[in-house]
Amino acid sequence: MNRHRAYRCRTVQSAINIEDLRRLAARHLANIAFEYLEGGAEEERTLRRNRQAFDQWQFIPRTLVNTESRHLRTSLFGRDYALPIIIAPTGNNGLQRRQGDLKLARAATQAQIPFCLSTVSNTRPEEITSRSGCDLWMQLYILEKPEITADLLTHAAAANAQALMVTTDANVFGNREWDQRNFKRPGQPNLRSVLDALCHLPWLWDVAFPTGFAEFVNIAAFLPPHMRSARHGATYLPTIFKARVDWDLLARLRERWPRTLIVKGILHPKDVERAIELGIDGVVLSNHGGRQLDGSVAPIEMLPEIAQAYRARITLLIDSGFRRGTDIAKALALGAHGVLLGRAPLYGLAAGGEAGVTRALTILTCELDRVLGQLGLNSVQELNPACLRAGWPTAFTEQGAR
Ligand SMILES: Cc1cc2nc3c(=O)[nH]c(=O)nc-3n(C[C@H](O)[C@H](O)[C@H](O)COP(=O)(O)O)c2cc1C
Repeated sequence: MNRHRAYRCRTVQSAINIEDLRRLAARHLANIAFEYLEGGAEEERTLRRNRQAFDQWQFIPRTLVNTESRHLRTSLFGRDYALPIIIAPTGNNGLQRRQGDLKLARAATQAQIPFCLSTVSNTRPEEITSRSGCDLWMQLYILEKPEITADLLTHAAAANAQALMVTTDANVFGNREWDQRNFKRPGQPNLRSVLDALCHLPWLWDVAFPTGFAEFVNIAAFLPPHMRSARHGATYLPTIFKARVDWDLLARLRERWPRTLIVKGILHPKDVERAIELGIDGVVLSNHGGRQLDGSVAPIEMLPEIAQAYRARITLLIDSGFRRGTDIAKALALGAHGVLLGRAPLYGLAAGGEAGVTRALTILTCELDRVLGQLGLNSVQELNPACLRAGWPTAFTEQGAR
């Protein structure tokens, strides 16, 4: 019997892992919101691979080491943080919970980690910093109109954003088929979605009453008036991503943004090299959580090669598929300086607002701390490739493991 299935937690406080929060989120959200959060592109092969790829590495613990003084502190781009974790940029967080961006940012402040706000957020960056006090990083999608980029940079600077994170893997938007199935035309959910939303009244009340679904505030002024609501924007937006974005544009952005500049969505070693040549401060190895190119490699699979060649020359961040402290420990051991979390805190947000995000971060903090102790280490800086062995024994089966 699968004991996991038999367990049904009811509150975020009783959630003991990220999967528990995911189940709570699935219960609270209407299908239209849960599929937006959860889904990947096309057949979701990359989405699945992002999880499976961690299994290729096993820990080799050291024993009889005093680990009483262990801690998880780290520093990124010259700033100190309590954990090697960043909340990843995710758009339309107001669809999960009212003021979802702010709730994520406040939980990040409490955890003493950075929060990255999406271009397609429902809250302005200035409001995020003034109301949460978080260490703000701003994510940039380069859209059709250059005015949008200029406006976003102005707001990011006004909000005192420490870093600009340019996402480069969505210039040609992913084919997310579940999104298409929920709508009959842009902005028009089909009857099934409407009925399902009416079956989730607490969710609907929270995110849409009394003024309707939240807008994409950073770009609304640049959209056609009838496409400004998040409901319409969600289906209209993919049409204004700009396929022409290239390294020249990035070089110009480097000149315009004097603070930390990070490129998100890199998987090829040569692209890391290019970023270094342009004076980029950091890269995020990412496949966008399996929402873009279906069938692409998992970032953790590229990490060893990239870390070996470039770790000393650029800050290496990574995301896609991280749900456990063991996943984070593996990435740090393989050479990542930090890990971005996308869905994990979002499940917490959907399940229980700010308290849910805090619960997600607490769960992962405890898990990571436990891994360190069990490996015989006192800090995340001590994680290194020798903590791991590659390759799952071919004879291994669930049966064989018992
Ligand atoms: C609901 C959702 C919305 C997202 N929106 C954005 C976004 O606006 N900008 C961006 O760069 N990445 C976006 N991403 C990708 C995340 O930043 C991150 O790369 C991904 O979620 C990591 O995978 P994980 O969810 O398995 O942790 C989004 C991901 C999700 C799940």
